[in-house]
Amino acid sequence: MLKNFWYALEFGHAVERRPRKVRCLGQDFVLWRRRDGQVAVLSDLCVHRGGALSMGTLAGEDRIACPYHGWEYEPDGTCVKIPANPPGRGIPKKARVDAYPSVERYGLVWAFLGDLPEERRPPMPHFPEHDDPAFRAVYWETTVEANYERTMENVVDAAHTPFVHGTAFGNPDRPEIPDFEVTQDEWQAEADILLSPPPPKGLWGLLRSGVRPEHVVVTNGWYLPNIVKLHVRLPFGDLILYDHNIPLTQGRTQVKIVGYRNFFTGRWADGNALKRIGRIFEQDRPVVESQRPELLPFDLSAELHIRSDALQVAYRRRREQLIKDGWWVGGDDVVTGDVPRRQATVIPSPARRENPELARAWVHKTRGTGAESEEEQP
Ligand code: FES
Ligand SMILES: [Fe+2]
Repeated sequence: MLKNFWYALEFGHAVERRPRKVRCLGQDFVLWRRRDGQVAVLSDLCVHRGGALSMGTLAGEDRIACPYHGWEYEPDGTCVKIPANPPGRGIPKKARVDAYPSVERYGLVWAFLGDLPEERRPPMPHFPEHDDPAFRAVYWETTVEANYERTMENVVDAAHTPFVHGTAFGNPDRPEIPDFEVTQDEWQAEADILLSPPPPKGLWGLLRSGVRPEHVVVTNGWYLPNIVKLHVRLPFGDLILYDHNIPLTQGRTQVKIVGYRNFFTGRWADGNALKRIGRIFEQDRPVVESQRPELLPFDLSAELHIRSDALQVAYRRRREQLIKDGWWVGGDDVVTGDVPRRQATVIPSPARRENPELARAWVHKTRGTGAESEEEQP
């Protein structure tokens, strides 16, 4: 799992005033909508005794009060009230939790999970269809018992479609993938892939015979850290899916899809669009949940790659570089789960790097950059 990226954590319509727990990178976060409409994103770990702030309530203007002893935190993570202290007693400087930059875009609430200063943060992907009135969006989600890199690679993998999805958008009689070229930069890669269209049934049956093309062009690609774009050019319009593979933990993924279409753009067709996404996804689910090893190997040679796997290979090489750069968040950083732990680490937030003195004062430890933790002695 990679830190130092913007992650879409929740659909905007699901975030209200009421504090809400979300999970990502094996960590819990609390979200709430501030009075000005912006969304606050804090580590869900109270610095006092590790209570879950998401079980607390809002206090004052925009503070969150811990449900255990009522400590109150501002959206920037500073503690401003400790009810057990008699009046006049100061608040320790160490009383703060990590707060993460957030942005609401494309119907999603994004948080920057890392400590890089603004100018060094990787860009958020651009979804041009969102502001184009010709397109209509639907929002779909599910949870999968599989690693997010497995589910992500599944969606960039064109070669599985005729096998896993039958004639839904591939042709089992023509499974070969013509060679394609990958265009890539530091943060994304994409390719135009030619697929043989399925026999004229279902949606494809809408086409009069004779206009059935030899190939359909599917643009497929990834955006780091966890998004896949799938643009299917149907003869009657465009279907563009942005598939977010949110690593809840290493072995469990929440998939959130924003799907745009410029055909059948009435609200009446939303249910059908969602049903189609769901049906396709349920065909993928048993496959990705059965893959072994569960986690994507670090070593490129641990699995066999062929030409049609070029997008996945590009991803794995880029990921290798980011791991070398120290952006990897591993099993030791996962604080959610069934295993009792004596130490909870958090993803470092920008405030730690902005103020090194503060970083050293921080109670919750991080690994990697920022405030280095001492390993606990057994
Ligand atoms: S655990 Fe949060 S106030 Fe005590
Ligand atoms: Fe699939």
